[in-house]
Amino acid sequence: MKKKILSGMRPTGKLHLGHLIGTLDNWVKLQEEYDCFFMVADWHALMSEYEDPAHMGDTIIDNVADWLACGISPKKAALFIQSQVPAHLELYMFLSLFTPLGWLERCPTYKEQLREIKNRDLKTYAFLGYPVLQAADILLYKSDIVPVGEDQLPHLELTREIARKFNSMYKKEVFPQPQALLNTVSKLRGLDGRKMSKSYNNYINLSEEPEEVRKKIKDMFTDPLRIRLNDPGHPDKCNVHSYYAVLAPLREPEIDTLCRKAQIGCTECKKELAEILISYLAPIQKKRKDLLQDKGYIRDILREGKEKAYAAALETIVSVRKLLQVQYEL
Ligand code: TRP
Ligand code: SF4
Repeated sequence: MKKKILSGMRPTGKLHLGHLIGTLDNWVKLQEEYDCFFMVADWHALMSEYEDPAHMGDTIIDNVADWLACGISPKKAALFIQSQVPAHLELYMFLSLFTPLGWLERCPTYKEQLREIKNRDLKTYAFLGYPVLQAADILLYKSDIVPVGEDQLPHLELTREIARKFNSMYKKEVFPQPQALLNTVSKLRGLDGRKMSKSYNNYINLSEEPEEVRKKIKDMFTDPLRIRLNDPGHPDKCNVHSYYAVLAPLREPEIDTLCRKAQIGCTECKKELAEILISYLAPIQKKRKDLLQDKGYIRDILREGKEKAYAAALETIVSVRKLLQVQYEL
């Protein structure tokens, strides 16, 4: 039997290059080998966006169009929306029964978000339970492996603790201990050199128009020591160069040499990069556009995915109800 994978993404906005390089490209590889469930984590998104959920419906379809355009195949993986499988909330409740408050209050992601995010009220009962819902997502499908970014490691640790506590309390090995599979740390930074993120406004969306791409690349910082055209550059200190390494690995060594010998100027170098990126995105954007012309097709895929997820989730939830003496026959 194939090992199982569940992963999810919150539908909080358009997907950018940082989502493709590091996460989606990883999912595309994993779907070949594992039994994959890829989930739109809309409940998780609501935990922070509950005051203004107006865009969520469109964002979900838009994000799934990007998943498909980047190579996720509904034949190989089940794509579904978390809120369409009610068992997530049910297991979340079961796990909440015995999850100590201290585990959640100490969770580094929780403390950090409370500190960093000032424009929303996150001091809520639901937000504290964010990692418990994530544990429910993972355990519901008995996933063996969970591909995530480094920031999510504490949630995986908590999931394992919850699974251990459940198994030992009810004296039954219901849940396996899921392992995190770290996404390849994206070598592609944001336009300003920090992690690419919507909140830093340093991103290039997968759906970015060519003119916008040119503008954004033009404004990127380059080697700060290179002031005049004939100053030799230091590609290792230049974010533009690291984009070449990821997007055009064959051109990268030449750019490296030209830059060090001051035989290419930064303006020219960035112009070339912009065109490389535009052609890199072109096939994705074409597929995305075709997909978005028939949203019914995307909804069909999500419906099929839901059916598969629903069946797998039901099996787990029935066994949990039995163990906890909650009525399972009506
Ligand atoms: N918390 C994850 C994030 O912000 C999203 C997520 C929700 C998830 N449920 C999950 C990831 C289950 C992996 C497994 O990135
Ligand atoms: Fe960076 Fe290119 Fe300028 Fe070199 S030439 S510093 S790689 S932008």
